Amino acid sequence: MDKKLMAAKEALNFVSPGNVIGLGTGTTANEFIKLLSKSDLCKSVMGVATSINTENLATNLGIKIVDIDSVDKIDVTIDGADEIDPSGNLLKGGGGALTREKKVALSSRDYVIIVSDEKMVQKIPDHMGIPIEILPFGKKKTIESIENLKFICRLRENFITDNGNFIVDCIPSNEIDMSVANREIKSLNGVVETGLFLNFKKTIIISDGEEVKILKN
Ligand code: A5P
Repeated sequence: MDKKLMAAKEALNFVSPGNVIGLGTGTTANEFIKLLSKSDLCKSVMGVATSINTENLATNLGIKIVDIDSVDKIDVTIDGADEIDPSGNLLKGGGGALTREKKVALSSRDYVIIVSDEKMVQKIPDHMGIPIEILPFGKKKTIESIENLKFICRLRENFITDNGNFIVDCIPSNEIDMSVANREIKSLNGVVETGLFLNFKKTIIISDGEEVKILKN
């Protein structure tokens, strides 16, 4: 079976009738949304979307979407990830939805990540930079201040986030402590959010196409 579909199918077991579900962004999360729309759960659940694309897909498939501020809590969020290290730290934002994804994850009781096995890496960032959402105003100065923390930054061209901001992909030029780097980057004026999702309590569903592995941390 397709790896993404297999992980998405397993994630349905983490949803109960009547749940408010955080709906992630990306191709793997889309598989989950399609399965959810075809299941009996669809009649009773409500979704909180992490992006406009997700909202459009879910709405078109008949899933009721509600605003994050209209619910007290989200029962469970199902989302993908770009890279996961052996400690379960996530790198997200390949699709540029990282700020909404983090807000929804932080508002969720349960957090379930669905990935194909090639997302597992020894160290993050591995094959991409850390996506960082920044304000358009003074973007050059914000990028310079990230570069001063010893990152090599590339502005994502022709890309505007759902929040009207820019994404810079940043590769550390030497060894970094991720928690320190995340804190330092987030303290810079002009930075909205980073794609480093550290220390989230979660379940990770990994599929290699033959079977799924479930990790909890
Ligand atoms: C979106 O901004 C990302 O965080 C996605 O969750 C991530 O890119 C995973 O996408 P795929 O499931 O398409 O690999």
